[in-house]
Amino acid sequence: MSTFDFSDKKPLSGGWMVKKTTIYILVVVALIILTGAVLLAYLVPDRECEVTQIELPDDPETIKMPKPVDIPKTDPVPEARLPTTVIPYHYDVKLQVYLDEQLDGDKYLDIDGETYIYVTCKEATDEITVHIKTMTVDSCDVFETDNNQQISVTSTETVPENEFYVIKLSRSLGVGQKYKIHFNHTGTLNQTDLRGFYYATYTEDGEEKTFAATQFEPSRARRAFPCFDEPALKATFTTTLIYRTGRIALANTEVVRNGTYLEGWIETEYDKTVVMSSYLNAYTIGDWECIYNTSRNNISFGVCSQPSLIEDTEYALYTGMDQMSMFEDLWNMPFPMTKTDMPALPVFGPGAMENWGLILYREIYIIYNPRDFTPSRKQGVAAVVAHELAHMWYGNAVTMEWWNDLWLNEGFATYFQYYGLDYSVPGFDTFDQLFLRDVTYRAMRSDQVGTSTPVSAERTIYRMIYQKGGALINMMADFLTQDLLFDGLRKYLHRHEWGNTVNDDLWTALTETVDAHLGKRMNETLGYDMKDIMDTWVLQMGFPVVTLTRTATNLVTAEQEHFLLDPNDEPQEDPGLPQLGYVWHIPLTYTHEAELNFHTPTRTWLHKTGGRLNMQILRRKICCHNVPKYNDVKRTFSLLYVGRAEF
Ligand SMILES: *[C@@H]1O[C@H](CO)[C@@H](O)[C@H](O)[C@H]1NC(C)=O
Ligand SMILES: *[C@@H]1O[C@H](CO)[C@@H](O)[C@H](O)[C@H]1NC(C)=O
Ligand SMILES: *[C@@H]1O[C@H](CO)[C@@H](O)[C@H](O)[C@H]1NC(C)=O
Ligand SMILES: *[C@@H]1O[C@H](CO)[C@@H](O)[C@H](O)[C@H]1NC(C)=O
Ligand SMILES: *[C@@H]1O[C@H](CO)[C@@H](O)[C@H](O)[C@H]1NC(C)=O
Ligand SMILES: *[C@@H]1O[C@H](CO)[C@@H](O)[C@H](O)[C@H]1NC(C)=O
Ligand SMILES: [Zn+2]
Repeated sequence: MSTFDFSDKKPLSGGWMVKKTTIYILVVVALIILTGAVLLAYLVPDRECEVTQIELPDDPETIKMPKPVDIPKTDPVPEARLPTTVIPYHYDVKLQVYLDEQLDGDKYLDIDGETYIYVTCKEATDEITVHIKTMTVDSCDVFETDNNQQISVTSTETVPENEFYVIKLSRSLGVGQKYKIHFNHTGTLNQTDLRGFYYATYTEDGEEKTFAATQFEPSRARRAFPCFDEPALKATFTTTLIYRTGRIALANTEVVRNGTYLEGWIETEYDKTVVMSSYLNAYTIGDWECIYNTSRNNISFGVCSQPSLIEDTEYALYTGMDQMSMFEDLWNMPFPMTKTDMPALPVFGPGAMENWGLILYREIYIIYNPRDFTPSRKQGVAAVVAHELAHMWYGNAVTMEWWNDLWLNEGFATYFQYYGLDYSVPGFDTFDQLFLRDVTYRAMRSDQVGTSTPVSAERTIYRMIYQKGGALINMMADFLTQDLLFDGLRKYLHRHEWGNTVNDDLWTALTETVDAHLGKRMNETLGYDMKDIMDTWVLQMGFPVVTLTRTATNLVTAEQEHFLLDPNDEPQEDPGLPQLGYVWHIPLTYTHEAELNFHTPTRTWLHKTGGRLNMQILRRKICCHNVPKYNDVKRTFSLLYVGRAEF
């Protein structure tokens, strides 16, 4: 397989006799430059090496992509982790919300809640710790699930800095035994940062209206109900919402029961969810109107908005239905819920949020009609919908173990955002232009300074999680081929469905896929497997610059070093991560003047700090102004390093 040509390149046969005076040249290891310019060097003997910096052409038909779709996860997750002694498997959550100032009086914006958490004891303990925030626990009782026998609570303690609520019991819980914890609690919809279960107001047809919605990622479900609010503590959830008649209430699953609660109130119970992380719960209650259809693969699809905008949600509805079926087919893995609703909210913190079965959006990411909006708005809607639907697999079905590996959600969602856009709005050079401009180059711009962070670390910046994560997936698609990468991803998804993963789970699935494809072990053929290669890209910040130096007539030596805009920058070290010395396993691609289009670039690997490349010598020089359009060098630009030739 040509993409796995691991041996050093031999000089091509029929080599030229080169006299010292012959003009020869070669440029070129990936011509990427961080400032957005292409650097092309050429050599003419007796002259100084000339370097021309040229701005990357800005395509006038460039599409403006929406700003990043998810909010950066800036809300700090408290460092303290829950004990692993007791873990949840099911929740019954009942929330009554007071959204009407006139009718509700003192209760206005309160959330009256009653929650049962069903848990299994993993290690003997006489304490149970859950998360709460912006909430008062009015009562808390613990029972053995089997016989409903109560275990008395000796004391409870709120630990605000950890957002913990600690329940101390009169006796120890038994390993393997099941218990249920019953809470009555009072919370608030008045979350001025629009996080947790919040309320907001907007004006429709001159009338002020109030609605409630949620944003729980990363750690805000605890503002709505007591919970084990960590992504690996997955459970099923049965939700009941109690709200005043006249409003529409939506949650992750379909309605199973509508009851009247008190006069003027509705109590709606939703179907039990699949096993999922707490942060993927969602609700909205408001004056919404919805339109529905059924996807090719039989998922009920809904789009909701203010009634005055409902006609403009149709594009999102059809695009979403279509993309959902496309992703199901691509991963050979059906969407596990029976419905997905996509409400467009007038006030929402992030651009959109991938809650399972209830994907919430800002209105601007859903509302489109060809009459009032530009085609780029249409592409924006298709892209954001694709991003969120990609999360149904990367994030929801398979979830990162902890937030340090958030790129396993967001890197994939970023990559498949463009994949889905290309599917829904074909005919644009989505990957070769938009992706490079908005993902790869942006990642590199943020990553060329010492203050950058690894993609996968406790401290990590938004650009690394989303853009560099996405760019690295694109890089793998380049050196593995997209087909092989997707085979490996299917293996990863199927193996870890319903579970949680760390980077190594991804590398293992990909290595096994490559091994099977090659018919022998990748680490024996190449000397390295996917973990060896990709650890250098995700566990350390930055990226390399590769310098080619001619050391003999037909010999060029390649060397890598950490590219830093300011060479005096001192990268900050990340405790807990291996120190890899800022050396990368680089899938190196190069070409020469006879192949300026990069149609058949030569591929090799640069594994260590230095390496030798034998390159063909040509007699014609390249005019330094003959800068290839970045269209023509697209394959090379998928890779994340800078090339420079000094000879
Ligand atoms: C909890 O709240 C429910 C519903 O309001 C109520 O019926 C129940 O008595 C309360 N339980 C306790 C222990 O306070
Ligand atoms: C919501 O909370 C903010 C800040 O805590 C407060 O200023 C405001 O009055 C509250 N709003 C309502 C409607 O209670
Ligand atoms: C429950 O009530 C809602 C209105 O809030 C309605 O849209 C829905 O169809 C009802 N569902 C069932 C199963 O009765
Ligand atoms: C559902 O969508 C299909 C196209 O995918 C369309 O033909 C059909 O009319 C739609 N049904 C409804 C009820 O809108
Ligand atoms: C589609 O889904 C509905 C409801 O989930 C189910 O009743 C129906 O049998 C399904 N149809 C097909 C063709 O699978
Ligand atoms: C290659 O990987 C396999 C499986 O992880 C391991 O058993 C073997 O020792 C490795 N071989 C080399 C040469 O590293
Ligand atoms: Zn996302």
